[in-house]
This record gives sequence, C-alpha cells and structure tokens, in this order.
Amino acid sequence: MTRLHLGVFDILTPNQMTQGLWAHPRNESHRYNTLPLWIEIAQLLERGKFDFIFFADSYGYPENKPELALREAVYAPVADPMLILSALAAATTRLGFVTTASPTFEQPFANARRFSTLDHLSGGRIGWNVVASGGSSAAKAFGRSEAPGHAERYEQADEFLEASYKLLEGSWEDGAVLRDKERRIFADASKVHVVRHEGRYFKLEASHACEPSPQRTPVLFQAGSSERGRDFAAKHAEGVFLKAPTIEALREQAADIRRRAEAHGRDPRGIKIFSGLSAVVGRTREEAARKKADYRAYRSREAALLTYENATGIDLASLDPDAPFAGIRTERGRSHTERYTRHSGGVQTAGQVADNFADKEFRGIRLCGTPEDIADGMQEWAEAADIDGFNLERYLLPDTLRDFVELVVPVLQQRGLFRREYEADTLRERLFGPGRRKLPDDHPGAAFRRQPSPDAR
Ligand SMILES: Cc1cc2nc3c(=O)[nH]c(=O)nc-3n(C[C@H](O)[C@H](O)[C@H](O)COP(=O)(O)O)c2cc1C
Repeated sequence: MTRLHLGVFDILTPNQMTQGLWAHPRNESHRYNTLPLWIEIAQLLERGKFDFIFFADSYGYPENKPELALREAVYAPVADPMLILSALAAATTRLGFVTTASPTFEQPFANARRFSTLDHLSGGRIGWNVVASGGSSAAKAFGRSEAPGHAERYEQADEFLEASYKLLEGSWEDGAVLRDKERRIFADASKVHVVRHEGRYFKLEASHACEPSPQRTPVLFQAGSSERGRDFAAKHAEGVFLKAPTIEALREQAADIRRRAEAHGRDPRGIKIFSGLSAVVGRTREEAARKKADYRAYRSREAALLTYENATGIDLASLDPDAPFAGIRTERGRSHTERYTRHSGGVQTAGQVADNFADKEFRGIRLCGTPEDIADGMQEWAEAADIDGFNLERYLLPDTLRDFVELVVPVLQQRGLFRREYEADTLRERLFGPGRRKLPDDHPGAAFRRQPSPDAR
C-alpha cells in the first residue's frame, strides 16, 4: 500500500475527546494556553515526521448547562488557535499547521489576509479547515438571534469560498512583486487587481491585502460528514477528516466523497481522506490495557453528553431512553446524528445512543496494544476503507503523542508505511507531491486565477 499521512487533531481547551480526562494527574492539558507545551508538542511531532497538527475551533459554548460546562471544561474555556500558529511555525521548520475558520461567522477579506499571513510566515505550511458551523450561543455572541439553518450554512460557505478564491487566486498576478530597489518599484500596480464580489451573503470590493504566499490558497480541509457536508468536501476540499463507527461505514463515506469529487470534475485522488485515530500504546498488551483502564476511570458521562448536545443541539439525557433515535433531526451539526441513523451498528434507541456516545465520544478508530498491534490496525483500516491517513487524537497531553512518536512511528517506518524524512517544503506538496504548491487546475479555485497581463513596464 502507499504511504500513510499523519496528523494530530487537537484543540486549545483542556478536554479533547474524552471528557473528564483533563483531571488525570499526568495530563498537561490544563496548560493548553501556554506556548511551552505546544512548542514541545510541535517539535515532538516534527521529530516523528508528522504531516501536520490540526487545531479545531468553534465559537460558542454549551449555554444550556454553563455550570457543568465550566466545572468540567467542556468547550469552555477555549483559546484562539490561529494566534499560536506563527509561534509554532517559528519553533519548527517542516511541520504543517491546519486550523478552522468558519464561513458562518468570519468575513472573507479578513480571513484571507490572516491565512495568507500565516502561509508567508510558515513558508507554505498552512491549511484551513472550512467548517459551516452553527450554534445559538455563537450566533448570539455575534449579535444575531439565531445561526442560519444547516442548508443555508453550506450555501454561505460555498459563497465564502468563491469570494476567498477571488482574493487569494485572482487579485495579485504572479510576477506582480518586483522588490526592485534600484528602480524604486516594490510592486507593479498593473498586476494587482481589485476583485469584486456581490452575492447573497457577502459583498466586497478590494485587492487582496497580502502578496501571494507560497501556496496562495491554504490547503483546504473539511470535516462535516453529513450528506451536504460531503458534497461540499467533494467540491472544495483537498483533505477530509472523517470518523465512522465501522470500516464499512468509513469505506462508504470515503468512496462517496471520491465519487462526488469526480462528478465535480475533480481527480478523486485529489482529496486525501483522514480518519480519526485513538491509540493506547504499551510495550506489552497488558501495559496498554492498564493504561486504557486508567484513562477510562477519569471519564465523565454528564460531560460527554454535554459535548453531544453542544455539537448537535440534542440533550440525550432528556429523551425517553426507549424512544427510537431514527426520526431525530437537527439544524445543528448532523454528522453525529447521521452517524447513528445511517449506520446504526445495533444502536437504535435514544438510551443506546447515549450509552454508545458516553463510551466512544467523538473518537475515530480506537486501537489498543503494542506498537505492532497499532500498526497492524492502521494498515488494516487504511487498506480496507481506502483512506490516506490518520489524525491522532489525544488521551493525555503530551504522553499520547510521545508514545506514538517513540513507539509506533518506527514500526510504521520499518514497514515502509511512513516517511523517514520530509520530502517537500510546503504542506500541499507533502500531501500531493513535490511541485504541487498551488491548487491543481481541476480545483474550482483555479478558475479564479488571472491570466498574466502583458508586461506594463
Ligand atoms: C475531525 C473533525 C474535526 C472537526 N473540527 C471542527 C471544528 O474545528 N469546528 C467545528 O465547529 N466543528 C468541527 N467538526 C464538526 C463538524 O465539522 C460538524 O459536523 C459541522 O460543524 C457540521 O456539519 P455537518 O452537519 O455536515 O456535520 C469536526 C469534526 C470532525 C470529524
């Protein structure tokens, strides 16, 4: 099989994935808002030749149960990941960085300027996870009474990307920047264009504030696996983050995204598909099992159910446990309702969904064992589901990541499943091969590229 790609999925908040685990004595996640912790992690991942670290992000918090949210640190407090990326870029030379920005709440002009700046400062190592997020507490924080509904958020995201492509791809021609001190011409104004966008949700008239960065458009990621989310991914994404309860479900989702990409006129292999991966590694199986039991002892069921409510708007504890879950609909994130309605895996009632979620939370594939066991499991899932890589999820910071880098990465390398050295500078080239710094021609963003104008000098 081809080589795997590896990322880490994290977030600037004390709990990630297993609610309650922040209180584990070995967990350093209470230092989530300090640079030394993240610099140590970024350098560790770079030693492990990881492709990137991804920081998820969203606005809003679990407003219905603030006491529980704050007591157990359920998405509160959360710091802004974009602001640590330049510091992490300075502490590393090769690791990629991906973070989320939401078309529901941001503005294309300011967002494009931020990502271009990061792409410059990191030498082309930046990716943008586009999440069509909603949520009433986020909406209220931005002065709105409600977030747009599910379908409308994806419409808005589509338009946001169109406006972003105009700025990132169509405003500055290649060769516009001269930096010619002799002739005193920094940039050639005839090659920098004002772009206009007037749509249903966004209006702008501007030239892009930044000169073209190494990748121009950051590598685009997407994470919503609802029906509409997959179509959006198929059109725009170059990387997709999936989580599925079974190999079959993962295979079906991956195949569906690739099919839809083809229908959008794109190379189906132009999208790298990542599954979440939670790995508990021990030098022996017994040691791994002991670790897993230790982590489980810190779980909080009430906090876990609050993360479900925060993502979906559904309070599982308030539903009749014997009621069928199949008819449930929501205007919030649907990946986590469809995960149970499309692939029930024997989980049918609201009570069973609550038990299942309290056990698994938002984790992807879960593996436990020796480094060889973990590598076997990764190989099996990647081959059977036809995916390109994994996004490692923490139990403890930084222990989970250190165990993986020190124990599992060497096994993957020995098997020829993972790189021994970084082969390219930019994140896009690392994912798609040397020379591919920019969006490929079959990507919808490429249509906004401007043909070079005749030399005005
Ligand atoms: C790996 C992964 C990362 C995610 N990252 C974010 C994120 O950073 N911000 C966010 O609001 N939602 C995030 N989500 C949640 C989904 O994107 C969520 O499903 C989406 O907001 C709603 O779209 P949907 O209805 O298509 O699921 C993530 C989901 C997964 C699986």
